[in-house]
Amino acid sequence: MARDEMATVRASIAGGAAVVPQHVAIIMDGNGRWAKLRGRPRLFGHRAGAKRVRDIVQACPQIGIKYLTIFAFSTENWKRTQTEVAGLMTMFKRYIMKEAQALHKAGVRVRFIGDRIRLEPALVRLMNDLETLTCGNDTVHLTIAINYGGRDEVTRAVRRMAVDVAAGRLKAEDVTAETLASFLDTHVLPDPDLVIRTSGEARISNFLLWQSAYAEYEFIDTLWPDFTPEEFARVIGRFASRDRRFGGTKA
Ligand code: IPE
Ligand code: IPE
Ligand code: MG
Repeated sequence: MARDEMATVRASIAGGAAVVPQHVAIIMDGNGRWAKLRGRPRLFGHRAGAKRVRDIVQACPQIGIKYLTIFAFSTENWKRTQTEVAGLMTMFKRYIMKEAQALHKAGVRVRFIGDRIRLEPALVRLMNDLETLTCGNDTVHLTIAINYGGRDEVTRAVRRMAVDVAAGRLKAEDVTAETLASFLDTHVLPDPDLVIRTSGEARISNFLLWQSAYAEYEFIDTLWPDFTPEEFARVIGRFASRDRRFGGTKA
């Protein structure tokens, strides 16, 4: 059923000579509210949200999406209670241990973006190992943002660039937008074509600020644990009808 619907979306996209977004980024929001509606603790919602990730990653090759980037933990999320933060970190470790082989078998190349310095060493080791395990894969490129903030990423990039300038490896007058992009965590990824946020909030909360300069946005009311591959496929179908002008005029 899901497969059928996705095939239909893919066919309609191809039939209209429109494009499937090459890179989709998702702000997976609404886990806490989903749990609250059921009278359960927030971590119950996060666990339900983690299960959704698997479905959405699996849907990508079926729809024809090559790059998927998901926001799992922001630089601002440390403000949450110690219980929630610790629970999320434990969940990330378990998720990696549990999903690593399946992701690898499915040809998923996993990368992590964000500052690893504040993450516990055991988690960083698992992240590094998963990146190494999957580094030869090319079916889908999954990037997971943990302790990620757009401003923090640009700040870290500028700091490293300044070090190169001070050391004489880079001339200040040679710095272009491409130079800065090459210092970002996302330097090997194309810019996102489409950014989806679930849970009805219409803000970007510090996600991929530089990279999303010309992204299309979709703000969806569905809470993340309820976001199905079918709804994902429908959102992708809508993208096909958008007219992206990049500041120019229509041809
Ligand atoms: C998104 O869900 C997941 C993370 C930020 C880790 P939330 O936890 O923000 O859920 P709401 O917004 O409180 O419903
Ligand atoms: C953004 O969601 C971060 C993630 C989805 C990981 P938040 O729930 O943290 O964002 P705000 O606080 O509503 O802006
Ligand atoms: Mg939220």
